[in-house]
Amino acid sequence: MSKVERKNIQVSQEEIARQHQFIEEIKQLNYQKEMQTERKKRFYLATFGCQMNEHDSEKLAGMLGEMGYSECEDMDESDLIIFNTCCVRENAELKVYGHLGAMKHLKEKNPDMIIAMCGCMMQQPEVVEHIKKVYRQVDLIFGTHNLYKFPELLFSAINSNKTVIDIMDSIGLIAEEMPIERKDEVKAWVTVMYGCNNFCSYCIVPYVRGRERSRYIENIVDEVRMLGRQGLKEITLLGQNVNSYGKDLGNDTTFAKLLGELNEVEGIERIRFMTSHPKDLSDELIFAMRDLNKVCEHLHLPFQSGSTRILKEMNRKYSKEDYLNLLEKVKINIPGISLTSDIIVGFPGETEEDFQDTLDVVEKGRFDQIYSFLYSKRTGTPAAKSVDQVPEEVKKERFQRLMEVQNRISNEINHEYLDKEIEVLVEGESKTNDKIYTGRTRENKIVNFDGNSEMIGKLVRVKIDTVKTWSLEGKVL
Ligand code: 5AD
Ligand code: SF4
Repeated sequence: MSKVERKNIQVSQEEIARQHQFIEEIKQLNYQKEMQTERKKRFYLATFGCQMNEHDSEKLAGMLGEMGYSECEDMDESDLIIFNTCCVRENAELKVYGHLGAMKHLKEKNPDMIIAMCGCMMQQPEVVEHIKKVYRQVDLIFGTHNLYKFPELLFSAINSNKTVIDIMDSIGLIAEEMPIERKDEVKAWVTVMYGCNNFCSYCIVPYVRGRERSRYIENIVDEVRMLGRQGLKEITLLGQNVNSYGKDLGNDTTFAKLLGELNEVEGIERIRFMTSHPKDLSDELIFAMRDLNKVCEHLHLPFQSGSTRILKEMNRKYSKEDYLNLLEKVKINIPGISLTSDIIVGFPGETEEDFQDTLDVVEKGRFDQIYSFLYSKRTGTPAAKSVDQVPEEVKKERFQRLMEVQNRISNEINHEYLDKEIEVLVEGESKTNDKIYTGRTRENKIVNFDGNSEMIGKLVRVKIDTVKTWSLEGKVL
């Protein structure tokens, strides 16, 4: 059956050019102000949530850089404050409201200051209503689907006394050729697709990020080639469910094919990706990971719960056994692969027996690391309506037990590295000690060692002499 070419969802060249004009207009305004005040305009950007949001913030910073703003670390000093928000769990939202309240006095001190809110939280109409009513100091609200329109929206906010709001409920267009300010000189994030079609019953992402939309393979390859030319060494391909990459393109593009093309890009030494849904992890992808030399031996494969009954309630479309069999297949084909996973503790109706299944998968899976979360009720998702919510103290107690099991396993796995020599891509100085350098193994383990700035961006061999739960330490050979 021949597939139908998808309808055009790219932002047009004309629209991109129009946004670049707004960048130019703001740049002129900023330049004039800078001449008068002898002070460059500054922005403060706070990012909450996942890598996708971090990468969106790099796009915002890229546009702001071209407008003549410089970044600052202090809200008091800034002319523009942006909050790039997350709504995957309630505590991320509460943090944002906390900051918003505290920002009221800043605006009173500096009425010209612009306060902007964007990201996933803003895709929820009730949140926008609440902010409009309670936090009148906010000047600009926009969502995730229209990030490329930021220059135009900011221009309106600067020139208006009212709150500018632009939340598109359309499918979300794909914009190429907007500026990106990447802070890291060694590693880069590259989005391969936007949105998610899976509707796991606890998750708000499909509602706020829309349906799956893949970037064209040639645009991704061009971006990675440019990164290679700029001297970056490692890329992490981003998507809510990268294994679905290409399915909406209407041709034969698959994620494994994309990896094959990227493996050929000069200068790039390592390729990573996240996140993979177990139901879509194809043999083709497992073999690509096995055969492509730059694709690292690490797989983030969230299982969320070990109980087949809960998995059904979560709409995950696999059973405990399916997942364990899949892990076996991955381990057999890619020896030495490191595995990580996400787990939700206390999904509605989770019994002690269900939780024992989760512990069992953790024991059998022997993950290098897990990211566990207390179930958080998200309005608008099916699971939030369940009357069978698990009490907070039960969730916390299970969470604690889960961490204890995983810490033991992480420690045991890390001990296998003792006295071994491993390849590390050097990322930079450690945050706490400028004599200590830090990098990662192909398996994504953090390694600290005594290095020097010459080593940044290079592959070095390190002999491991100390093992911790979350990292390894050693000497460069
Ligand atoms: N409550 C708790 N954790 C959640 N996640 C997604 N939605 C929720 C929720 N409502 C977790 C999942 C996902 C990760 C990014 O966040 O484990 O894999
Ligand atoms: Fe959320 Fe499930 Fe989509 Fe992941 S796959 S973003 S958990 S709906």
